[in-house]
Amino acid sequence: MKIDILLGLQWGDEGKGKIVDALTPDYDIIARFQGGPNAGHTIEFNGVKHVLHLIPSGIFHEGKINIIGNGLVIDPVVFRKEVDSLGISLEKVRERLFISLKAHLILPTHKLLDAAHEASLGDAKIGSTLRGIGPAYTDKASRSGIRVGDLLRDEFREIYRTRVAEHTRVLQGYNYDFGNDLRQLEEEWFSSIDFLRQFKTVSADYHIDSALTQNRRILAEGAQGTMLDIDFGTYPFVTSSNTVAAGACTGLGIAPSRTGEVFGIFKAYCTRVGSGPFPTELHDDDGQLMRDRGNEYGSTTGRPRRCGWLDLPALKYSVMVNGVTRLFMMKADVLSGFSKIKVCSSYTVNGVEVSELPYCLSDIEGLNYIELPGWECDITGCTSWEELPAELKDYINYIEKETGVPVTIVSVGPDRSATIYR
Ligand code: GDP
Ligand code: IMO
Ligand code: MG
Repeated sequence: MKIDILLGLQWGDEGKGKIVDALTPDYDIIARFQGGPNAGHTIEFNGVKHVLHLIPSGIFHEGKINIIGNGLVIDPVVFRKEVDSLGISLEKVRERLFISLKAHLILPTHKLLDAAHEASLGDAKIGSTLRGIGPAYTDKASRSGIRVGDLLRDEFREIYRTRVAEHTRVLQGYNYDFGNDLRQLEEEWFSSIDFLRQFKTVSADYHIDSALTQNRRILAEGAQGTMLDIDFGTYPFVTSSNTVAAGACTGLGIAPSRTGEVFGIFKAYCTRVGSGPFPTELHDDDGQLMRDRGNEYGSTTGRPRRCGWLDLPALKYSVMVNGVTRLFMMKADVLSGFSKIKVCSSYTVNGVEVSELPYCLSDIEGLNYIELPGWECDITGCTSWEELPAELKDYINYIEKETGVPVTIVSVGPDRSATIYR
């Protein structure tokens, strides 16, 4: 048995939550491998919408195991609220959810550091979700993080105090007024830690190894997207973890030789939330139409998402660094009614047409588009490939030809059922 990996190919919010939930019946275990509560994964079924931040998107299915891997940074406060909002009994969530002992904790001061650092950047701010992600991963890399396994140690509070004293010194350097904030945040944090203690913590690496030996099927769920990867994204406007397929190996403890399919998911257009270069961004009516029709507002922060046409050089790059074996096209329904579908096929850099991403996306001087005919009809009721309009099929065929990877799922609505398997 090999572990399949599902990840986003753009700037996040491609629809990972929806598809992981839809695919869960085919798997025994769903394992999130990186990120933290900066993620917002939306799942809709039976007319109800759920947004998950830390919990893997297989949680709504009876009899499945969900693992929060070592690659994550967990905010216990967000975790408790999320468990409470699921509409599933605590007992059942505890049966279905395992947490890696090696996952790191987001402390209250990580959130304050995130806010202080962003404020210090002024106009150059990253547009962070302010969930403490960057500072928590910074502590992990500088070997001073606190992990879930540390909750079992007698000296846990002492370790916590030492870290917070360090953070406080750094915060003072920012001249950041965190006054009473911290005491309140700590109270909530410690009571949430007690809540977290009720959950099964495991050596997820050994757990996954033995599950594979027993031929159990595992799907690794990514967060964010390839263009937000700390190494391969639009640095420094990225998140602080490896969102690419390799991140599934380090974020769960699986060997590269044990990975199987890589499902790359992308919107039929592009969005980005937060700052940073976005070559195909539209500031016109088409962009607004995509935002309105696609309800493009952040699931975590509610911020309006920037919208634009599909960026083929960026998509091909993501296919390359992830070794994508199947593509899933999301939100195809949002493009219904556009008379023309535009696709950026290459860039102009230093007066030369290029199809590769330059080192710095802000070096792009111009974008070269091709236009394909759009389709007028509403496709939200389509249930099979045959029913899809010829123009959409042509658009998909074009993407397949350009990327060399088959598009095997087309999503035509937010509901679990609005999913066409080809
Ligand atoms: P994720 O972070 O990748 O899980 O994506 P988000 O949940 O942040 O954002 C995707 C949004 O699009 C959510 O509101 C989904 O409910 C919605 N969505 C997912 N697939 C489709 C689709 O095919 N069509 C439409 N119209 N909405 C979709
Ligand atoms: P999902 O999993 C979209 C963006 C933020 C910001 C940058 C850094 O739902 O696709 P951070 O809080 O990580 O320090 O923010 O990354 N970002 C996301 N954008 N979807 C996400 O997750 C994101 N998680 C972080 O907006 O630009
Ligand atoms: Mg999201």
